[in-house]
Amino acid sequence: MEKIKMFWLAVCLMLACAEASKILVVFPLPSRSHGNLGDGLVKHLLNAGHEVTYITPFPYKNAPPTLRTIDVSKNFDIMPMDIMSIKSIMDSPMFLHSIGFMLYMMIDLNRHTIQLEEVNKVLTDPKEEFDLVIAEWMFTDIPAGFASVFDCPLIWLSSVEVHWMILQLVDQPTNPAYTVDIMSTYTPPLNFWQSANELWTQVKINFLQYVWLDGVQERAFNELIHPLVLKRGRKPPTFDESRYNASLLLSNAYISTAASVALPQNHKFIGGYHIDDEVKPMSAELKKIMDNAKHGVVYFSMGSNFKSKDMPEELKKSLLQMFGTLKQTVLWKFEEKMDNLPSNVHILDWAPQQAILSHPNLAVFITHGGLLSTTESVHFGVPIIGIPVFADQFLNVVKAVNKGFAQRVDLSYTMADKLREAIIEVTSNKRYAEKAKELSFIHHDRPVKPGVELVHWVNHVINTRGAPHLRSPALHVPFYQKMYLDLAVFLVILLLVGRLLVKKAYRAVLSKSKAKKKTH
Ligand SMILES: *[C@@H]1O[C@H](CO)[C@@H](O)[C@H](O)[C@H]1NC(C)=O
Repeated sequence: MEKIKMFWLAVCLMLACAEASKILVVFPLPSRSHGNLGDGLVKHLLNAGHEVTYITPFPYKNAPPTLRTIDVSKNFDIMPMDIMSIKSIMDSPMFLHSIGFMLYMMIDLNRHTIQLEEVNKVLTDPKEEFDLVIAEWMFTDIPAGFASVFDCPLIWLSSVEVHWMILQLVDQPTNPAYTVDIMSTYTPPLNFWQSANELWTQVKINFLQYVWLDGVQERAFNELIHPLVLKRGRKPPTFDESRYNASLLLSNAYISTAASVALPQNHKFIGGYHIDDEVKPMSAELKKIMDNAKHGVVYFSMGSNFKSKDMPEELKKSLLQMFGTLKQTVLWKFEEKMDNLPSNVHILDWAPQQAILSHPNLAVFITHGGLLSTTESVHFGVPIIGIPVFADQFLNVVKAVNKGFAQRVDLSYTMADKLREAIIEVTSNKRYAEKAKELSFIHHDRPVKPGVELVHWVNHVINTRGAPHLRSPALHVPFYQKMYLDLAVFLVILLLVGRLLVKKAYRAVLSKSKAKKKTH
């Protein structure tokens, strides 16, 4: 009894000491991995004593008292998630992967989120106030409007590797001669054609934004956000005033795998923050399987979005048959029962991924290469085989291959043989595991853990009312000024005018002297 009292006393003291702020967290994307990143963020904020309002499509069952969730699971209805299944990606037309399609989809999702009754209630209620908004940036700047409504600082959280599109919101785009786009399949150093291609990507996307998508975003912003700001008695900001107003950019990446490029002072790496300090143990049954795997374990999971059950039938069969020929124990995250399993293959309809990755008998992780999975494999020091399917997975896998802890296999109907070769290579050649351990050391060798860093900077922004001292002076300098194109034009004009004047003066002098000669 005494002990319990003491515990609550300590909790109350802790809460009183840490100043509680009201934070609005905006993570509306109906995708489990993005939800995991939002949940991880919320967990750290709650532990730091803050009061959190969390816009999420994955509502909690037992939310703690300092957490209020705003359920936006209706977003599942408007995201064409079925185009994201493995089979349809293998068979679908290319336009579904095009950047224009994806950007438009993200804008629409955010517009829809703001219009949802559950969210609108909070936005229109004059009693609602926040000290900070933290929003995931996923190819649209519309969420900046939340901070404008509540007249408070904004922090962007980038769920992917830091890249030029998001950096231009707080500083400037990176140079395409030595940095790549988030959907790229190149890693620097770039050759002539690759760097030309990267430049083309930036030009193309900027052009798309300029002629089309910025207009779509701005209209949505004016239509949805302006009335809300007016209602609170303030003058509505322009879309640009709102979207370039972020105090900080937190990126779910770390230098263990990210490119080592110059970054602005208000960019902070927090990659790995979603991983718990203590790994939740796996079931006794699974532990027994892994403990007894004399030749090591191959773990195969395509994540939560791409379900193995949606694979084409012939691919499933050929993979299963191939796994049966391995000496290793195979754990396959697969959402259905399967018949005629080889004795070394075990099906898991749900996989405690972090526990599996931390098991000493794990030999290789076969993954789609999403950033959460690649971060987790670096965290636990496990080599991977990447089968990239979508978005940044190609880049993550290419980087992992370049770093030396991965093999890449392309998704296809006939990939079983290639995958078998890759498994044999990664499990028999020690260098993959050694490299993974090396990167894992780099990943953990930081002054503080990523979760501590995250909380520190969030508090810093709140306590300095938006951390204006961290903002980059480059943000509001237009491109032509950075390149001194205005000076160049000025100098050219000066030169031309100068030349003209000299010419005129010379002619004047000449004609004068001619006139003098005539009078003589
Ligand atoms: C810009 O950020 C500051 C805090 O950093 C905030 O007070 C202000 O309301 C923001 N303005 C807009 C238009 O979002």
